[in-house]
Amino acid sequence: MTSVAISTEPVATRRPSPRRFVMCRPDYFDVFYSINPWMDPEAPVDRDRAIDQWETLRTAFESHGHHVDVVPGEPGLPDMVFAANSGVIVGDRAISARFTHAERADEGPAYHRWFDARGFAKLAAAQEVNEGEGDFVLVGERFLAATGFRSSPAAHREVEEYFGIPVVTLDLVDPRFYHLDTVLMVLGDGHIAYYPPAFAEPSRAVLAELFPDAIVATEADAVVLGLNGVSDGYNVFLSPRATDLAAAVKAVGYNPIPVDLSEFLKAGGGIKCCTLEVH
Ligand code: ARG
Repeated sequence: MTSVAISTEPVATRRPSPRRFVMCRPDYFDVFYSINPWMDPEAPVDRDRAIDQWETLRTAFESHGHHVDVVPGEPGLPDMVFAANSGVIVGDRAISARFTHAERADEGPAYHRWFDARGFAKLAAAQEVNEGEGDFVLVGERFLAATGFRSSPAAHREVEEYFGIPVVTLDLVDPRFYHLDTVLMVLGDGHIAYYPPAFAEPSRAVLAELFPDAIVATEADAVVLGLNGVSDGYNVFLSPRATDLAAAVKAVGYNPIPVDLSEFLKAGGGIKCCTLEVH
């Protein structure tokens, strides 16, 4: 069951705010190695379909007033489409990722060069294993950051120092949910949705305490990576398979917008994975 706080208060008025996103064209998207349980190199990927789905997402963002910068993909880097993993950007500071697996290692420098050309006042390459917004989620005045499968606890400290923003460490325990953005999404000002069983018990307690009004997602939604969505504070871009979550966010004043990225699910990715936010 999705739990939604039952209240006699009128549903809050949610307001969208324009966002800047970075996306990477899936011209070289493929699944020819396996670094998470979703990836089966034997299962064929329909790249034309993937490109169509990606274009639909990009158009959905743009038609809702958001700006999208597009990074070209690179041959031999099939997961580069997952721009969320490229780093973390807040204001005039950016840090580019350092990947866990050798298969994705070259994406760090590729994105670093692109960030560099864009000109940030401060740009660093992560020294510690850091898979960007896949594991670092900015909620209000703090980052929630995950470890367990990818980004390291040392990376949490590095990000905290680099941005001067406190980082709360959370432990992931289920290999299907290897990045924080596969099980937790920010809906609005300090408001999140998440799937508690993906976290170690102490981390669940931390989340319950920090976010008493969070939407608790169902298993059915979690296993289709339904939490891997993007919200602008009102419009929530979501997998059409995440039906419980769509109903739950609608019930508290958001506007769910279904966007199907089924081809990317074959790599263990979804809407948020394809989207880096420039905060
Ligand atoms: N195949 C990619 C990997 O395992 C998927 C990355 C998904 N990205 C994300 N932000 N969750 O690394």
